[in-house]
Amino acid sequence: MSQTTSHQAFSEPWARAWADQLRDDEAYRKAAATWEGSIALEAHREGEPAGAVFADLWHGECRTARAASVDDLAEADYVIRAALPIWKKVMAGKVDPIFGLMSGKLKLSRGKLAHLTPYISASKALVRAAARVPTHFPGDDAELTQASAAPSHLAPTSSAGASSNQIAAPGQRHYRTTSEGGLDHGLPVMGLWHKGKKLGVWDPRDIDFTADLADWRRLADIEREVILHLTSLFQAGEESVTLDLLPLIQVIAGEGRLEEEMYLTSFLFEEAKHVEVFRRFLDEVAEDRSDLSRFHGDNYRLIFYDRLPTAMSRLRHDSSPAAQAEASVTYNMIVEGVLAETGYHAYGSILERNGLMPGMQQTVGYLKADESRHLAYGVYLLSRLVIEHGEPIWRVIEQRMEEMLPPAIGLIHELFEAYEEMPFGLELEAFTDFAMGQFQKRMKRIERARRQSLDDLRREPVRTA
Ligand code: MN
Ligand code: FE2
Repeated sequence: MSQTTSHQAFSEPWARAWADQLRDDEAYRKAAATWEGSIALEAHREGEPAGAVFADLWHGECRTARAASVDDLAEADYVIRAALPIWKKVMAGKVDPIFGLMSGKLKLSRGKLAHLTPYISASKALVRAAARVPTHFPGDDAELTQASAAPSHLAPTSSAGASSNQIAAPGQRHYRTTSEGGLDHGLPVMGLWHKGKKLGVWDPRDIDFTADLADWRRLADIEREVILHLTSLFQAGEESVTLDLLPLIQVIAGEGRLEEEMYLTSFLFEEAKHVEVFRRFLDEVAEDRSDLSRFHGDNYRLIFYDRLPTAMSRLRHDSSPAAQAEASVTYNMIVEGVLAETGYHAYGSILERNGLMPGMQQTVGYLKADESRHLAYGVYLLSRLVIEHGEPIWRVIEQRMEEMLPPAIGLIHELFEAYEEMPFGLELEAFTDFAMGQFQKRMKRIERARRQSLDDLRREPVRTA
């Protein structure tokens, strides 16, 4: 840190230097043009307070910035808390602030995440401005190394996957189920298979949509438009997950993972039924045959017309653990986790709250149960990959999440921005808060795999919630 004086992070002079940087920052001014509200950043070290700053930000201007008082912390519109080593990574550009919030590295102790997520570029500009302030951190260096150090006791195994599980070349094939090996009932994925056989066998044709049709005809135009909009997202989403799953099943089968493949047959079967049930709704309730792709916005197109199919079809020629991890994060964690599960949760609760469309309510119940098994498989697969291949795979997972979360959250915003007033009491927060909570739970589970063995994984029942 050359000529200029370096300030201790989160101190009063640091806050003022940060505000100076912001005042000259055209990129920040533009990105935050509609931002209103004050923000406090709080640091802690081993649970003890380690400094906090407060900034009053308004329409791209930093009106004031100072070391935060107790009142500032109690009154700021948003308070973001994190350990010093995390803040250090944020300022070094190694952790994206919105991703940090989504994944729980940074905690939003006041304010709503949903209000922050449209400001991804503004938050990046805020952080870049902070990074331009020559900064030192109390008790420098030691902590950062500690925080970023990988647990070393988990040596990655060979990149070929579990070797005992490999499929032999034709001619030298060995069938496990006609040998003493048998089926491995100890694998947690068998629990999902058994559940799938019992719970995943509802028939889309059995749903009674009679009352739904009567309800639909009574709805206001705007209400029908919003339901049609949501359905168009669900419908194409279900079609894409049906079309795109096969390469993953092929890779899993190619590794001789019979039990996982058995479960995946029910997975694909269920996605196919999801396609069917939404199309039935469109045909018989909405009675709509128009081109619904008019509802597919930029973020939706990026995910469902590009990122998802690309990541899945990569598996046709690249079955590496990294390709599998990228595919599963995109498919399970983002498309199913942040989008489908969240969408069904919010949709189901508005139908229920408004006493509408009992057939669709029942359907959403089935969809949620099916998706919870799909997600549990994704968490299992990613945990297994982390255990088998160690830190490089964990980094692939983190990086892919970081790439995919902004368009996923962007898609939710896109939906709400399309309407001046959302009918049914639909609220943005209902989507984003639920998505974040579920996402954090799963990330924590997968992160735990960094310190686990395959035996640990085997001993844990796969949870479906
Ligand atoms: Mn589905
Ligand atoms: Fe699914």
